[in-house]
Amino acid sequence: MLKLYLSYAKLLNFYKIAGVNIALSKTPMNRFSPTKTKKSNRANIETPIKKAQQAAGQAQTLEELKCNLQKFNECQLKFTAKNTCFSDGTPGSALMLIGEAPGRYEDIQALPFVGLSGHLLNRMLSAIGLQREQVYIANTIPWRPPGNRIPTLMEIEVCRPFIHRQIELACPKILVALGGQAAKFLTGAKEGILRIRGKWYVYQTTTGLKIPVMPTLHPAYLLRTPSLKKLAWQDFLMVKMWLHHAGELNKKNT
Ligand code: URA
Repeated sequence: MLKLYLSYAKLLNFYKIAGVNIALSKTPMNRFSPTKTKKSNRANIETPIKKAQQAAGQAQTLEELKCNLQKFNECQLKFTAKNTCFSDGTPGSALMLIGEAPGRYEDIQALPFVGLSGHLLNRMLSAIGLQREQVYIANTIPWRPPGNRIPTLMEIEVCRPFIHRQIELACPKILVALGGQAAKFLTGAKEGILRIRGKWYVYQTTTGLKIPVMPTLHPAYLLRTPSLKKLAWQDFLMVKMWLHHAGELNKKNT
């Protein structure tokens, strides 16, 4: 009993030092209880995701989707970013490339891949005979994370319905995932990008459409590790072959 009294006394002393001078409720509440934390976390996550699913699902065209995304206020990244980076290139192209999240220049111009990695991406495309205007480009996350930090799981999940719908509406014949995050997102693979790159995967839309995906190295990674450019070149050659065999390479739009 004395032991218990002493530990209460210690706790009260701790409260005093910490500046606690008022009780918020008559009954104590364990805010660290696993069931409580789990339930409230789940509610915190589920509501924005449901709202995202609704906003994305209602869009019947890419224009409507862009508009719904610009009105969507459930992802905190939107409030630190300058602009929403929806897409660049030509919707309806056979090839759609998907990156991770906008960087500084993308945020300023409201367009994906317009900074240094975008310049390299343009060169990679032209090496397989494609201009930027002949492909469609987007990111898994449409807002720049502050300081280019890695997006949190919550941010990825809230943006997920929008990029899924964007793929569905753009309806490309083939997808290229630029970097590990986009590759995991599109393929569901758990391994790192160096293991999964260069192999075909299948992405399935909610409407059941199956689209081949080629994961490859992110241009920003290639700028830091130029010795690996040869691997991305091999991946892009496979994409070129696919487009060639599908009769998509010399079409006006791709
Ligand atoms: N990196 C990305 O993944 N996307 C961009 O738009 C720019 C850099």
